[in-house]
Amino acid sequence: AIKNVLAICGSLRQASLNAQLLQATEKVLDNRAQVSWANIADLPHYNGDLDGDDKPLPVTQLVAQINGADALIIATPEYNYGVPGTLKNALDWASRPAFKSCLAHKPVLLMSASPSPVGGVRAQGQLKQILGGTLSHLCPVPEFALGGAATKFENGVLVDSETQKKLERLIGDFLAWLE
Ligand code: FNR
Repeated sequence: AIKNVLAICGSLRQASLNAQLLQATEKVLDNRAQVSWANIADLPHYNGDLDGDDKPLPVTQLVAQINGADALIIATPEYNYGVPGTLKNALDWASRPAFKSCLAHKPVLLMSASPSPVGGVRAQGQLKQILGGTLSHLCPVPEFALGGAATKFENGVLVDSETQKKLERLIGDFLAWLE
């Protein structure tokens, strides 16, 4: 059956390289998965006082999106060697109640992109640790960390054929793992 995949971008920037990577991923998935995009921009800062029965609407919407997805694909930048606060905040909201949240046992594929040569791999390492805390299931693949990302897209489209090939292999492995 066609899988529902939720794309989560750790950058809110209109011209985000990570969003472009997710768009390229959506293209590679083509008719093999239905992709929707999470909105994490409107979440308030996590506050336990807001995390009661009457949660803020953006939280309820994000949780519904995650519940409706067979798997998540998260692409994130690295900010000061770590996970951007926006993304961490979204995962913190989604992570409650602990160990039985919408993130528990959810299959997740991670990727990162950066103009720098290391491609955000340190942020990805942190994400792995965080998603261990939520009992999420990480797709067992070597890190897909796209370095020099600024040179690999033109007008929002992935134009680097080597990256395209790697992405196709990654998505093939991801879909096989989901089955
Ligand atoms: C960065 N950037 C960055 N890059 C990196 O490879 N390692 C890092 O530690 C950092 N630190 C960092 C901190 C902050 C606050 C910003 C705004 C940026 C650069 C970052 O990779 C670059 O801006 C990317 O283009 C951001 O990803 P998007 O928005 O293009 O997806």
